[in-house]
Amino acid sequence: MRLDKYLTTMGIGSRSQVKEYIKKGKVKINGEILKKPEYHVNEENDIIEFQGINLEYSKFYYYMLHKPAGYLSAVKDNHCKTVLDLLDVTPKDGLFPVGRLDKDTEGLLLITNDGALSHELLSPRKHVEKKYYVELDGALTEADVEQFQQGLDIGEKKLTKPAKLELLDDCQKAYITITEGKYHQVKRMFRSIGLTVTYLKRISMGSLILDESLEKGAYRPLTKAEIEDLRCNK
Ligand code: URA
Repeated sequence: MRLDKYLTTMGIGSRSQVKEYIKKGKVKINGEILKKPEYHVNEENDIIEFQGINLEYSKFYYYMLHKPAGYLSAVKDNHCKTVLDLLDVTPKDGLFPVGRLDKDTEGLLLITNDGALSHELLSPRKHVEKKYYVELDGALTEADVEQFQQGLDIGEKKLTKPAKLELLDDCQKAYITITEGKYHQVKRMFRSIGLTVTYLKRISMGSLILDESLEKGAYRPLTKAEIEDLRCNK
């Protein structure tokens, strides 16, 4: 297989992007920089490095997506556009969104093929923090902050776990940080105090923070540091 095709298959970038990377000397074959996209890769024997990383070991892919409203957090759907439809990457098979954001929710969504990491991030026992920016149809009070800290009855067997509410300017906007991930959890929490969420955006999940330079619908691979932080601290 040609070197540029191989790099595309490994999810490094589009054909034109990888050609550019090769020409810039970012790719080494058996320890030597090689600037020929047409080079025929010997997949058995060649050691191929991209920016110093041996590609043999990169079998997992991680993308940060700025989810826009209007997309389902699913791999495939017969009626609706899904978040996977926004990704133009190779390989794409096996990628899935880690957890669900409602169709009308925007913000940070991790997309990967790493089932073990996904399990760790979603496990209720791990209490991974998720922070959201929320807009409401009415004003919040300091009493609500206390209430969210104490736990709310959203119709589950138990009250919700302590949630941190940070009120913003007119108190119709806030940041909320939760450690659970029940169905429509944030909307149900505000519903339980008589308010309706009019806009919801996820800002962070564990150590992973939405890159605000990503436009809605845009995505980028996680950096090595982001992947390591997620693996270590979740
Ligand atoms: N809570 C919600 O209600 N909706 C989401 O999309 C995420 C958390």
